[in-house]
Amino acid sequence: MRVPLIAGNWKMNTTVSEAIALIGEMRSGLDKIDRVEKVVCPPFISLAAVGEAIKGSSIRLGAQNMYFESRGTYTGEISPLMLVELCQFVIIGHSERRQYFNESGEIINKKVRAAIKAGLKPILCIGEKLEENEAGQTEAVVTEQLESALVGVGDLSGLVIAYEPVWAIGTGKAATGEQANETISLIRRSMANLYHKEAARSLLILYGGSVTADNIAEFIKQPEIDGALVGGASLNADQFLSIVRQTAKIKG
Ligand code: PGA
Repeated sequence: MRVPLIAGNWKMNTTVSEAIALIGEMRSGLDKIDRVEKVVCPPFISLAAVGEAIKGSSIRLGAQNMYFESRGTYTGEISPLMLVELCQFVIIGHSERRQYFNESGEIINKKVRAAIKAGLKPILCIGEKLEENEAGQTEAVVTEQLESALVGVGDLSGLVIAYEPVWAIGTGKAATGEQANETISLIRRSMANLYHKEAARSLLILYGGSVTADNIAEFIKQPEIDGALVGGASLNADQFLSIVRQTAKIKG
């Protein structure tokens, strides 16, 4: 049985005080919803404060990125050892990191391995660009991203995959439920080939890209989609709560 998961990626939004205010608006509502894993991913500098604010609740915390070394002379970086004291999840390979910070498949692979080694659950993001989608390359692109991210990864427990077509992120132009379901079932098949059927069957695979309270049901109704990675709509407490509530109702 796969327990659905909704993660809010706050991206580079909220100051520490704004983050505390936002989680304050959501905490009691989110805490009341069971049968869904609820994860919020604020900026690094708010992890401790948000962690404090959700203490004793069923809400889980995630970071948006990390470096792959544990410690050392890497000015400005944050390591898995630092994160594991504060949170349970970490988003890795988000398309914005691939695009603006030149994260290659090799770097993403090092991060996935380092996260698992430290005891963090990686939310590995994969997805094709618009031109790749239009050229019919979706399957080739996501398969390549999967394979390169998972080189040397033996144990899939704790891994979450988020399928986020780049053309759907922050654009207001979400994929359709059927499109997302089709690509996600292809990802599950690739995982069965790379690992084994049982591991692929129990793997959580999320959809991400312009998810809102108005379209979440379309995705959650699909059999292969186990939840969502929500960007913009996760910054609005009512929207995020509605997304989690609808997920519990449909899938829980
Ligand atoms: P969006 O972002 O919901 O604002 O499209 C999703 C993401 O980037 O994870």
